[in-house]
Amino acid sequence: MYKILEKQELVPNIHLIKVEAPAVARKAKPGQFVIITVDEKGERIPLTIADWDGEHGSITIVFMEVGTTTQRLALMNQGDSIYSLVGPLGIPTHIEKLGTVVCVGGCYGIGAMMPIVRAMKEVGNKVISVIEARSKYLLYWEEELKKASDQLLVSIGDGSHAPERWIPDQVRSIVDRGGSIDLVIAFGCTYMMKLCAETTKALGIRTIVHLSSIMVDGTGMCGCCRVSVGGETKFACVDGPEFDGHLVDWDVLLARQRGYQEQEIQALQEWESRQWQKA
Ligand SMILES: Cc1cc2nc3c(=O)[nH]c(=O)nc-3n(C[C@H](O)[C@H](O)[C@H](O)COP(=O)(O)OP(=O)(O)OC[C@H]3O[C@@H](n4cnc5c(N)ncnc54)[C@H](O)[C@@H]3O)c2cc1C
Ligand code: FES
Repeated sequence: MYKILEKQELVPNIHLIKVEAPAVARKAKPGQFVIITVDEKGERIPLTIADWDGEHGSITIVFMEVGTTTQRLALMNQGDSIYSLVGPLGIPTHIEKLGTVVCVGGCYGIGAMMPIVRAMKEVGNKVISVIEARSKYLLYWEEELKKASDQLLVSIGDGSHAPERWIPDQVRSIVDRGGSIDLVIAFGCTYMMKLCAETTKALGIRTIVHLSSIMVDGTGMCGCCRVSVGGETKFACVDGPEFDGHLVDWDVLLARQRGYQEQEIQALQEWESRQWQKA
């Protein structure tokens, strides 16, 4: 069992949990994830390690409520325990000095990108962080990212923060203003990463995306997380989760992510009705 040491709602629907997991905290590297199971009968879901403390044996996760398991996790509190937590999984981000690195993130990706922002800065890159949200009240970690990066650019879908309403607009603007970018790293919703990769492809900027394909075992055995990259089948859990955004077949990925929508809705409805009956 893995004890929840801290729990916070960062903004509506996005939560932070700090979990006691000494073995994972000792080995975690930027870009890696864990697979958690809320209770004995729960589903396994992958979540990125947004921070870790090897000395005190804890890891931090930032997650968004999208379905049954994330809603159940959101109802857990400090002192409760998660049934299982496996990790760290996935190939860590390759950290190297390249020049200017732009890290972009939306929704849970704002939290998930933090270790990469810090690591890329530590090795001497100029790091520009770009975050987006539909409305200002959905933004979090602005101060933390300002401190960790050389520059923070914020996009709000309603255009209230900057004329650049979304992440791809910000990336294009940096280039239009004469800035050169050596690498873009993207975290968050698949559609945002697809648009970002299309923008950077046209601009000729290398782009790494952090894919959130559906996973089960997380160890390359089940084949559930398969994605098509450069015409080859890859398993996001062991070959990724980071891939060259210009080579990802986004249509296949989006279709596979929608593959179980009916069952996901049914599972959520059944769980919600059980909650009502209990109340
Ligand atoms: C490597 C990786 C890292 C991730 N990191 C984070 C993170 O740090 N924070 C965060 O909020 N989310 C993260 N995700 C996405 C997260 O795993 C899903 O949102 C979660 O599994 C949804 O489960 P659910 O039961 O709440 O929703 P469901 O009702 O099961 O599904 C809602 C949607 O979530 C996606 N999904 C469902 N099951 C899975 C699964 N087993 N694996 C991946 N996606 C799934 C599907 O596209 C689905 O349409 C990550 C995904 C991957 C692959
Ligand atoms: S999650 Fe099973 S092979 Fe990747």
